[in-house]
Order: sequence, then structure tokens, then C-alpha cells
Amino acid sequence: MMNPKVPVITIDGASGTGKGTVTHLIAKKLGWNLLDSGVLYRVLALAAQNKGVSLEDETALTALANALDVRFIAAEIGESLLVFLEKQEVTDIIRAEKVGNAASKVAVFPAVRTALLDRQRAFRTLPGLVADGRDMGTVIFPDAIVKIFLTASPEERARRRYNQLNAKGIHVNLGALVGELRERDRRDQERTVAPLKPAVDAIIIDTDPLTIEQVVAQVMLEIKKVL
Ligand code: DC
Repeated sequence: MMNPKVPVITIDGASGTGKGTVTHLIAKKLGWNLLDSGVLYRVLALAAQNKGVSLEDETALTALANALDVRFIAAEIGESLLVFLEKQEVTDIIRAEKVGNAASKVAVFPAVRTALLDRQRAFRTLPGLVADGRDMGTVIFPDAIVKIFLTASPEERARRRYNQLNAKGIHVNLGALVGELRERDRRDQERTVAPLKPAVDAIIIDTDPLTIEQVVAQVMLEIKKVL
């Protein structure tokens, strides 16, 4: 299933660093496939919620992960994939803060992560893959040709998220958002398996002073060095 001849570019980092947007833009520029690995953890968390499985029950969560009926359907070439859990389209539902926090909880368990490994590597198809997550460069695609790690301060990330939600008409408390972000970071960084940290050979970009276009330009410069 894993094809080492297909080139991979990994873009890792915490939520709110802009990695989702950057990954989309890079995949579009290159005409490559895209893996948003957080979606798998989000769908698993939603499935657990639907089936009344506890977010603390590693065995039950692993069984759920192995049997997870998740599908990605392209609406239009180059556009975001629609996400289906069984027969239900869940593309928007899984974006809720609550689901993100639950995803971070199920992602702590080693057996859950192992259960999702092959599904992630299956995205590695020609002409190439741009993969976004926490452990793309360290665990899932250690042989990626370019590894990027995006950082941003919690305040800046909370501000970006706040603006995103506001634009959708969802009003939240900025202070509470910063608190939730810090808690999620701590959980993602402190877990023993595949914690959020840059690969030794990753290029670290601090996005605080940069626009999305500037981040994309820097990433494209790195890609051009190797392609
Ligand atoms: O990138 P995201 O916000 O959609 O991810 C949601 C959660 O899923 C994140 O807090 C931790 C987990 N996750 C992970 O552990 N490993 C990944 N490669 C991607 C996401």
C-alpha cells in the first residue's frame, strides 16, 4: 500500500497555525493529492459520540477505528473533499471546537493511532501527496522530501480562530478560546506516542508575522529546492 516512490510533502503544526489553508494551496499549486489527517481523528471522535463509546476506552475506540466507515468524496477537482461517516455527510459537523477537543482525546491512545496508520498511507498516490497533521513528518511519512513545521503563538492562533468563527456568525469568548487551545496543545505535545513536535529534519516557520501568501511562498521555495 505504501509506495515510497510517490513524493510526499508534510506540513505539521498545532491548530490555528494556518496549516490547513497552506496545505490546500500547496496541493493546488502542485496538482497533488491532499491528506488532512486530523479529519480521521475528528470522524472517529464523532463516531464514538454517536455510538456512546467513552473517549477514555482505548479498546472500544480502537475497534471503532478499525471498522470506521469513513469516505472522502471529491466535490470538484482541487476543492476540499466531502467527508462521510457511514451514510451521513459530516464535513461541517466535524469542524466544531467540541469535536476537535474530542479528537485530541482519542488521538492520545497508541492503538488508535496504529489503527489509522494504513488509511493515512493509502493517500500516497501519484503524482504526489501533501499531508497535514501533527505527526506526518515524524511517524506517518518519515521519508517525505520536504517537511514543514508551522508555529504561531496561542494568542495569534486564538485570534485567527475567533475571526473565522465570527465570519461564520458564531460568537465565542476569545479568552476561553485561548484556554482551550493551550489545553489541546498540552495534550497533543505531552502524549507519549507521536506527540506534536517537529521532525529533526523539518523546516520550522513561525507564522505570527506572516500572511498566508507569505507562508505559501516560503514553503514553495523549499519545495523548488528538491523538485
Ligand atoms: O488538525 P486538527 O485540528 O483537525 O486535529 C484535531 C486533533 O486530532 C488534534 O488536536 C490532535 C489529533 N491529530 C493527531 O493526533 N495527529 C494528526 N496527525 C492529526 C490530528
